[in-house]
Amino acid sequence: MKRIGVLTSGGDAPGMNAAIRAVVRGAIDNDIEVYGIMRGYAGLLADDMIPMTRSSVSNIIQRGGTILKTARCEEFTTHEGRLPAIENIKKRGLDGIVVIGGDGSFRGAKALSEAGVPAIGIPGTIDNDIAYTDYTLGFDTACNTVLYCINNLRDTMESHERINIVEVMGRNCGDIALYTGITGGAEAIVLPEDPMSVAEVAEALRRSRARGKRSHIVVLAEGAGKAADFEKELSVLGLDVRSTVVGHIQRGGAPTMTDRMLGSRFGYHAVQLLKEGIGNRVIGIVGNEIRDFDIIEALSKPRVFNSELYHASKVLGM
Ligand code: F6P
Repeated sequence: MKRIGVLTSGGDAPGMNAAIRAVVRGAIDNDIEVYGIMRGYAGLLADDMIPMTRSSVSNIIQRGGTILKTARCEEFTTHEGRLPAIENIKKRGLDGIVVIGGDGSFRGAKALSEAGVPAIGIPGTIDNDIAYTDYTLGFDTACNTVLYCINNLRDTMESHERINIVEVMGRNCGDIALYTGITGGAEAIVLPEDPMSVAEVAEALRRSRARGKRSHIVVLAEGAGKAADFEKELSVLGLDVRSTVVGHIQRGGAPTMTDRMLGSRFGYHAVQLLKEGIGNRVIGIVGNEIRDFDIIEALSKPRVFNSELYHASKVLGM
């Protein structure tokens, strides 16, 4: 392998820069040239690429976002739409591509593999919704940002003896809510995997109040409802409620040590595969070991909800 490309695609995630840095430096160490493809698959279609050097990835490991920019690219989802990208890959002499992104981006990587371009996927999304890996890049940082918000909200909720509904991201996956709910000591956690009704949340809050607690945090996954709706309906029941949407704040910020390490290990491993001419793989972490899996098998693996953790959250948050 003489030359590879690297791109970031879909929603950005803290730690993507650490992964880009590891791909670039790992490749250069093996005398492989690297092109940075701008704005994900959109840049592949537009032939928007820049040659990367060791110094082009200096001073980025501590930065959130992605220096290569990112985009969601509708065109790339069809066979016809992908054809110019394949042409550009040939024209640029790219022998392989590293795709850093979520499951939508992995479908693009699978299509590249099927078109004969060795592709390696690195799971980069705050959602932690990819079944074959214990953790995705960015999840840890996003959770820590949410925890920071919960800590601040606790102060003011406690002073006013109020309830706050904290809506967090995750699309259809409740992991950000579950992990931050447990570690933020939430009195109730509402997940898409087992949505609690407003009446059930109200009942949980009443029980907590009966035990003497005067302020409460409810963590709500965006896939299970809107914080404003919960606020309105709980207020009707006579509770003093406010709501907070953490929003894109949880997608930015300096990556934690965990995400910098994960990005570094994922990126390094991607190059080890490509230098052996191995493509069609996705990388993950299972029990603190970096592993790789066949892209088709990995994408068809169903997500298993961590019901033990969920039960623990019910006991611990009461
Ligand atoms: O997939 C990452 C994510 O942040 C989801 O949690 C969220 O639902 C979505 O992206 C938001 O997308 P956008 O930034 O395009 O509004």
